[in-house]
Amino acid sequence: MKILGIETSCDETSCAVVENGTRVLSNVIFSQIKLHAKTGGVVPEVAAREHVVKIIPVLKSALDKAKLSMDEIYAIAVTARPGLLSSLLIGTTTANTLGLFLGKPVIPVQHIDGHVYSNWLDGDGGRDAGTEVIQKNAPKFPILVLTVSGGHNEIFLMRDHMKFELIGETVDDAAGEAFDKVARLLGLPYPGGPSIMKAAENGDKNAFKFPRAMMKDKTFNFSFSGIKTSVLYFMEKEKRAGRKPTKKFVNDVAASFQEAVIDALATKLIMAVKKYPNIKEVHLAGGVSANIKLREEIARRLKSLNDSNSANGAKITFRYPQKFEYCTDNAAMIASAGYFKSSLDLTLSRAACEYVEASAEF
Ligand code: KG4
Ligand code: ZN
Repeated sequence: MKILGIETSCDETSCAVVENGTRVLSNVIFSQIKLHAKTGGVVPEVAAREHVVKIIPVLKSALDKAKLSMDEIYAIAVTARPGLLSSLLIGTTTANTLGLFLGKPVIPVQHIDGHVYSNWLDGDGGRDAGTEVIQKNAPKFPILVLTVSGGHNEIFLMRDHMKFELIGETVDDAAGEAFDKVARLLGLPYPGGPSIMKAAENGDKNAFKFPRAMMKDKTFNFSFSGIKTSVLYFMEKEKRAGRKPTKKFVNDVAASFQEAVIDALATKLIMAVKKYPNIKEVHLAGGVSANIKLREEIARRLKSLNDSNSANGAKITFRYPQKFEYCTDNAAMIASAGYFKSSLDLTLSRAACEYVEASAEF
């Protein structure tokens, strides 16, 4: 079953075709990064206008790359929320229009659910339509998922497809947002995550100690606004002392900041793994899952947990998206989530789907 995915929730215009929720036939992403680098962040009206210009060429390119026409597409999955309203409307209107005129079902997808399903892409976890056969390397439930993006940051316990139990979330800023804001303070280019990761490669992660918030409380919640303020005060103090931020200084702050965020994320995730000892897999998803040090740190802590539990024989599998382009916003993950959402009863019918309503909560 081939599903066309459409994603326009923020500053990426993306269309993709995915078969059976896992096989990516095309995933075309037009990133507006260059446009927003000038302002150091996304200006909603600028983003929406660019989606209008790019959506049809991107859609055409996704079909061309998959060597398919719309006739061969079974349904259209589109990001319905959350996101920038004016950006979302371009994707949902495109999907609804295609659905109406071509007589195809339209599946509204929650953006964060899309990120979760990025870990199914390029795997063999899809079910052949009409069968109950689940292929052998498919992710196994229950799964703990850490979603880390610019706009959201959660830990979900997933007992089955599309069943998300929220067990922790950020109480203020998301981790990606903190990366973006701190990069700005350091004069590093937008988006901040990749810039900080690059600067940190040449920095000393132990140079400065930035706070790890909420580490002592028993919840699985995060807080990243304090660390951003702490970097701001630190930079101001340096300025008052008449010190100019040298390249070495910037690299050291980037590395120390990155270390603090990774420590907070990994600590809470491992706390959750210990609380739910029957979980089979841990997944990392969202833009910040592109961070190599974060992947390495979670893998290291899970390995030591697996080693200490080796007597029980049950090892926890760790997954993160198979390609970097699946970490940040993309339409392949939306098509995958749409497939699993609509094929839970394996009989995708118009009745199982709905047109995306403009009144959805954003
Ligand atoms: O998932 P995403 O594309 O958009 C949202 O749904 O928010 O995530 C974008 C976020 C940005 O904050 C960006 O700075 C961050 O992901 N990011 C990274 C890296 N690559 C992207 N953060 C840390 N390290 C990276 N390598
Ligand atoms: Zn996202």
